[in-house]
Amino acid sequence: MMKILITGNMGYIGPCVIERLRSSYPDSTLVGLDIGYFANCLTNSEILPECRVNQQYFADVRRIPADLLDGVDAIVHLAGISNDPMGNTFEEVTLDINYRASIELAKKARERGVRSFVFASSCSMYGSADDRPRDEKSPLNPLTAYARSKVYTERDLESLADERFKVTSLRFSTACGMSERLRLDLVLNDFVTGAVTSKKITILSDGTPWRPLINIKDMARAIDWAIMRNAVNGGPFVAVNVGSDKWNYQVKDLAYAVSEVIPEVDISINKDAQPDKRSYRVNFDLFRQLAPDHQPQVDLITTIRELREGLEAMKFGDENFRNSRFMRLKVLTHLREQGFLNEDLGWTGKNDMGTKLKN
Ligand SMILES: NC(=O)c1ccc[n+]([C@@H]2O[C@H](COP(=O)([O-])OP(=O)(O)OC[C@H]3O[C@@H](n4cnc5c(N)ncnc54)[C@H](O)[C@@H]3O)[C@@H](O)[C@H]2O)c1
Repeated sequence: MMKILITGNMGYIGPCVIERLRSSYPDSTLVGLDIGYFANCLTNSEILPECRVNQQYFADVRRIPADLLDGVDAIVHLAGISNDPMGNTFEEVTLDINYRASIELAKKARERGVRSFVFASSCSMYGSADDRPRDEKSPLNPLTAYARSKVYTERDLESLADERFKVTSLRFSTACGMSERLRLDLVLNDFVTGAVTSKKITILSDGTPWRPLINIKDMARAIDWAIMRNAVNGGPFVAVNVGSDKWNYQVKDLAYAVSEVIPEVDISINKDAQPDKRSYRVNFDLFRQLAPDHQPQVDLITTIRELREGLEAMKFGDENFRNSRFMRLKVLTHLREQGFLNEDLGWTGKNDMGTKLKN
């Protein structure tokens, strides 16, 4: 019987992680904690995904409730400002939430006897690299506040880890796939949505950047491994790239794959675009070695089909989806403009309903 705390469980990846943990550890107590920025951005969910946890805290990870860590064995720490555009807009807050609050949580967890801490890190910390795949020993080159927040957190987590407090930093590839809280600000999800809504894929770069991808079901599989991983294998602290060699794609190849599943799609590549500096290939040897039984299983074409079916089931037809409530930055900016969030991205408690973000 384990008690597992999942922070940031009310986002894109969270519902899928809860589903996985509920099935891997049926008798465990699952506790969620989330500030709820995107709580109402649901996609086709029969029930609130949080009904699958035993207890849900509606709280800010910067102000941890006193009883939160009572009896907790493992923490899956997903809570955070989760991409570059939000990190650029809310830079200091991103460092507060993603870095400082993560370290405070880990310190408290260690004091309280939590044994396993799983951190959702990101391969984006490799920034721009030459064509050689980056492994965990490669130099880091974080280009944005978001990527820096992940680098700082990993660095300080390493110094907290010991035999009693095992830390696993999962450097995830870029996520994709259907979720009960879909995000459309992720490259593959964007391409499929463009293809479904307007038969157009608009690549904002020249299409050449390398981007490793992973389906959210496979992220959940990796998290499942990390919670229980044997510290003999990897040591008290390990940072590991999570994804698979097959899923190291150039952005234009993702667009071509979408056009195989959804025919007659017009792909426009911006040949005049400034080179996108965020380009990196990633080496996944360590993950294969450490977690042979938890390797990614979902393939690209299946992921594209699932996304298309999900969007069709939602009857989603908004060609202007890059302005919709499925874009994380749009939601945060809207909530700020309407006065629901203050400049620290804390809830103000404002009463009136304001105007709605479309879609
Ligand atoms: N999606 C990806 O491609 C990807 C890749 C690598 C790593 N990650 C990491 O995985 C994690 C989850 O990503 P996601 O795609 O589900 O993002 P998301 O934005 O959909 O979800 C993040 C969740 O964290 C919550 N949160 C934010 N600030 C909080 C705070 N102060 N207190 C409590 N909760 C807070 C939000 O409300 C949201 O529900 C993030 O840490 C992200 O950096 C994601």
